[in-house]
This record gives sequence, structure tokens and C-alpha cells, in this order.
Amino acid sequence: MSASELDTLKAELLEAVAAASDLASLEEVRVGALGKKGRVSALMQRLGSMPPEERRDFGQAVNAVKMAVSDALEAKRETLARAATTAKLAAERADVTLPVREGPLAEGRVHPVSQVTDEITEIFADMGFSIAEGPDIETDFNNFTALNIPPEHPARQDHDTFYFAEGPDGTRPVLRTHTSPVQIRTMLNNKPPLRIIAPGRVYRCDSDQTHTPMFHQVEGLVIDNEAHLGHLKWVLEEFCKAFFEVPEVKMRFRASHFPFTEPSMEVDIGYAKVGDEIRIGEGDQWLEILGCGMVHPNVLTAVQLDPKKYQGFAFGVGIDRLTMLKYGAPDLRAFFSGDLRWLKHYGFAPLAVPTLAGGLS
Ligand code: DAH
Repeated sequence: MSASELDTLKAELLEAVAAASDLASLEEVRVGALGKKGRVSALMQRLGSMPPEERRDFGQAVNAVKMAVSDALEAKRETLARAATTAKLAAERADVTLPVREGPLAEGRVHPVSQVTDEITEIFADMGFSIAEGPDIETDFNNFTALNIPPEHPARQDHDTFYFAEGPDGTRPVLRTHTSPVQIRTMLNNKPPLRIIAPGRVYRCDSDQTHTPMFHQVEGLVIDNEAHLGHLKWVLEEFCKAFFEVPEVKMRFRASHFPFTEPSMEVDIGYAKVGDEIRIGEGDQWLEILGCGMVHPNVLTAVQLDPKKYQGFAFGVGIDRLTMLKYGAPDLRAFFSGDLRWLKHYGFAPLAVPTLAGGLS
């Protein structure tokens, strides 16, 4: 092979190196030139059969081609590797300053009634109340009799009760008509002093624009040796201020009647209607929000507490009504119709957890 043929080979190989567009094709070029059966290697193998006087010059010339090609290969390999890394980095680039993409979880909304229940819980927990619970299906005793509503008592008619079939003991279980039976459960299973609230579902066979067969109440109960009406009024007033997030509220305590309290009161809250907006703590209109009173001695006796030793107060608040008042949702039936558009409008973000420190709403 002549020197010019060697030059041509070298030029060809360098051109092939330059033309390689990725690491794989560059490797092909390398194998074709310097691999065992490569063109440069083949020339090297020919050295052995050459006369010694030609061998030295030819060897040096082939070696120079080999060095040139392998240098070019190395340089090209580095360039291609760097380009590959740059491309990979660009493809995997993440702009950490972008806002987090909303996942399906963030689409969900907390129902206003759940949110308000959490708000109420937060406020009473801060006053030292614990949470009590009872089942939706109650005994006649817990829902009525122990609450001083014996069979044939006229108050039973007021409750539009959903009854179940008669059990072996001759009484009919009920869907609880109020959260008051949780008072009974609490007093039967715990020793005073007691300070609880019991939020939950209640049921009455009643349905129109302001009544649904299922709705929500929160019961309150305080029993010790000296809890009195003054404490009750203070607790309710503090609750209303915290719940409506206003510095002052106007409250009206009206004498009323419940079988399980004596004396009994209904409580109205003062508000003003400005356009469509309801402003709590202003104006001269009144809205009934709860019933309350001192626990009746007969109720204490029914749960084996001595009325001469123990006394206390109880209250029952309509959660749905508080929700309508605070968040301006006008139609109670919409609360339970399962309309996603309604929920999107009135619902709360899942992480908007109400706290007294961070703000309730
Ligand atoms: N249980 C009553 C109802 O559903 C509300 C109520 C009134 C509860 C007075 C009480 C209370 O604890 O003291 O109409």
C-alpha cells in the first residue's frame, strides 16, 4: 500500500468519525477501523510478512494513521457523550418554581356540614369539652323514656319518629330523632364531672323547604355539682362569638319547654339582613338556633345520678341551620341532594382545616 493510499484511508476514516451522529454509529466506525478485523488492524497484521527494510517505515506510517484515528475517535466520543448528557438533562429538566399540579385529590370538596361540624368541635374542644358519640339507631329508652318522655307522652308525637319493628323486649328501636340520647349514654357510662358535645345525624319523618328527613344536631352536656344557668349562657355566648367570628353577639333566651330540661329555653340570635347577606351581631331580627336548659331531675334519676348531688345543663343546636346562616346557603334540601356543582360552590378545600389559631373559615 502506498503512502497516498494510506492518506486516503486515513482521510476516509476521519471523515467517518466526523460523520458519526451518535455513540452507536461511532462505535461501528471504531470496530471497522481498529477492531480485530478492522481496516487499520489488517494493515498491522501485514507487517509480519514484510521485508524488514519496508517494515519500519510502513509500520510507522500505519501507526500514525492508527493514532490519528483513535485520537479522533476519542475526541468525537467525548463530544457525543457530552451532547447526550446535555440532551438528557434538558429532557429531564424540572422547573421547581412552577406551582404544584392539582391532583384528583385537590378536586374533592368537604361538605359545608362536615366543615361546620369541625368548626364547632374545635370551639368546644378549646373550652374543654370532649366528643361523645352514639349510634343512629337508638333504643326507645335512650331516645325517649330516659329523657323524661315516657310512652304515651305527647312529646313523642312531635318527633315524627321513624320506628323499626318491635324487638323481643316489646319496644321498637328508632332512628334517633335528636342527639339527646347521647346524653343518656354518656351519663350511664361515665362518672361526673362530665363535659361533652355530641355531633351527629338525626332523623324525622318530615320534608319541605326547611326540613329534611335526615339532618344534623350537636348536643352539649355539662354535669357536675354546681354547673348553673350562668355557665350555660356564658358557654353559648362564647360559642356563638367564636363560631360567627364576631366580637359581640345579641342573644335572646326565651322560656320554653322540653321534657328533659327544667327550666328550658330556646335561644335566638340577633341578625340584620343587608341585601342577601345575613350579618350576625347587628340589626333587630331574631332567628332561633338552639334549645337548652338545666337537666331535669328525672333524667338524672333515669341514669342513676342523685339529683341532690349532681346538676348540670344541656343544649341542642341544629348544625344545618348554623351552616346556612354562616355560609349563606339558602335551601336546606340542596345540602343533601348530592349535586356536585353545589358542592363545588359551597364546599371546602380538603386541607382547609378549621383551627382557632389559624382561623375557622
Ligand atoms: N333535643 C331537642 C330537639 O331535638 C333539642 C334540645 C333542647 C336539646 C334542649 C337539649 C336541650 O339538650 O336541653 O328538639
